[in-house]
Amino acid sequence: MKVLQKNKFPIVTIVAVSKDFIIGDGKKMLWHLPNDLKRLKSITLGNPLIMGRKTFESIGKPLQGRANIILTNQNNFKNDVQLEKYFVKSFEDAVTQANNWIFNKYKKSEYNTKKIFIFGGGEIYKLALCFCNKIELTLVDVKLKKGVLFPHIDEKKWKKRLIQTIQGTENYPSHSFWVYNRKN
Ligand SMILES: NC(=O)c1ccc[n+]([C@@H]2O[C@H](COP(=O)([O-])OP(=O)(O)OC[C@H]3O[C@@H](n4cnc5c(N)ncnc54)[C@H](OP(=O)(O)O)[C@@H]3O)[C@@H](O)[C@H]2O)c1
Repeated sequence: MKVLQKNKFPIVTIVAVSKDFIIGDGKKMLWHLPNDLKRLKSITLGNPLIMGRKTFESIGKPLQGRANIILTNQNNFKNDVQLEKYFVKSFEDAVTQANNWIFNKYKKSEYNTKKIFIFGGGEIYKLALCFCNKIELTLVDVKLKKGVLFPHIDEKKWKKRLIQTIQGTENYPSHSFWVYNRKN
């Protein structure tokens, strides 16, 4: 695992993948899973999220109660402190912004509960996975064949644990929640 010297918090990937590790079509997600959205909110609330500009635009607005740290090479985006929306030009700057956001907003006694979440999409997962010691993964019981891929997970390097399985309905497919911890 790679480490950024100045970072003080665990970096965790959160993602939903199909059985063939597709995460979206490039513009949007390909499923609507109410239980997954609830889980995602409860896991990430009060923490900073790092995401790519395309993912941010696909969500359409900053997610409340979290820092929305958006990677872009463009200059025309403006930070909005009220909405907790921050644009950065590199992954290192994103992690620095995430650390500063936690330091400014929370008490020292709360630091040990804080995590930095890698929120996608494909480009950001690809550059950030090597810095993560944990993956919160939702496995959706569909095969999609084409779309944006999650990077390869080398199963030898991770220990995975099943948390819960949700049966599908006529509105959404079956899916399961997994936690991957990086082996030392
Ligand atoms: N299933 C899931 O859990 C999940 C989660 C999140 C997203 N998604 C899906 O993923 C898809 C989008 O993924 P994507 O790979 O196409 O795009 P993305 O990773 O969301 O965003 C890519 C953009 O991020 C910026 N960027 C990337 N690397 C950078 C770097 N090193 N420095 C500065 N900026 C950088 C660039 O923005 P500029 O072009 O502005 O320079 C680039 O175009 C969508 O379909 C979305 O729904 C799925």
